[in-house]
Amino acid sequence: MELTGKRLLVTGGAGTIGSHLTERLLEDNEVLVADDLSNGRREWVPHRATFVECDLTNPEEVESVLTEEIDAVIHLAAAKLVDTDAPRRQFEDNTQMTYNLLERAREVGVDEFVFTSSSTVYGEAPSPTPEDYAPLEPISIYGAAKLADEHLLSVYAHSHGMTIWNFRFANIVGSRLRGAVVPDFIEKLRSDPEQLAILGDGHQEKSYMHIDECIDAMKHVIENTSEPMNTYNIGTRTTTSVTRIADIVSEEMGLDPDYEYTGGKRGWTGDIPRMRLSIEKLSALGFTPELSSDDAVRKAARELIEEI
Ligand SMILES: NC(=O)c1ccc[n+]([C@@H]2O[C@H](COP(=O)([O-])OP(=O)(O)OC[C@H]3O[C@@H](n4cnc5c(N)ncnc54)[C@H](O)[C@@H]3O)[C@@H](O)[C@H]2O)c1
Repeated sequence: MELTGKRLLVTGGAGTIGSHLTERLLEDNEVLVADDLSNGRREWVPHRATFVECDLTNPEEVESVLTEEIDAVIHLAAAKLVDTDAPRRQFEDNTQMTYNLLERAREVGVDEFVFTSSSTVYGEAPSPTPEDYAPLEPISIYGAAKLADEHLLSVYAHSHGMTIWNFRFANIVGSRLRGAVVPDFIEKLRSDPEQLAILGDGHQEKSYMHIDECIDAMKHVIENTSEPMNTYNIGTRTTTSVTRIADIVSEEMGLDPDYEYTGGKRGWTGDIPRMRLSIEKLSALGFTPELSSDDAVRKAARELIEEI
């Protein structure tokens, strides 16, 4: 799909990735942002976008934003609660939103649909994990909901003629990120510059990608593929351990704190200690990220230190 001259519905467009993506899409398209502001911020929505505050778990509210006027849906809205705080809400809200949007898209004849899935659908898989890895056995409700969402996408791709882009993200970092390891360390070090509490044993090792490159990769795949279901991992080839992130954040803040580990190989229930996605499929399509995982963390740390 050419991402030019389109009328796009971006769900979750007031959130971290969605607000940056909206900014980029507005260069060549019109964008309608739908977000309930449960985790996003109104001031992050670019001025040139049209904004509607709505709850996408409600089919009537989905009807009001997804009309025949829309050319394509880019669905980022999600409750992002990887732990067990609110499992029912996590599962039901996320799958309901995706179902409501797909069903409404079918009703009004919108047949191009982009979805942001996650590395968590793979569960504890060997690295680097390719898109065709099986069995998919997620270990968190968040991952289970993403996998259920992907199965719904498959139905609309194969039985209702939609073109679907399904992106399985590694950890995406950059400005406006909240409630994740990099901003958490910054906040903790602001309140106690001498001591930093680290969840787990610090050896958790995952792949991080900067938001700007994530958006470049998404655009590249959307513009260069047209199968009914286009599933792509989006990440970097390298990884960064949690202790290394603590080092990078401390260096960037000019601090030298003592680390205190909570222990155990996971940061929380459902945490996957090691994650690195294979990006060979993305690479074969002509896109390779320039920043390593460490570079992406450092760039994000610099942006967030300015912002938080
Ligand atoms: N950030 C990452 O590392 C990462 C990794 C894998 C997948 N993802 C996926 O990418 C997408 C964007 O992630 P993000 O980091 O920008 O998260 P985010 O929380 O900043 O953005 C999600 C947005 O969805 C909105 N939302 C939640 N429930 C809603 C509802 N019922 N109705 C309308 N809007 C609702 C929130 O207000 C928020 O603005 C999500 O689907 C997330 O699961 C992100």
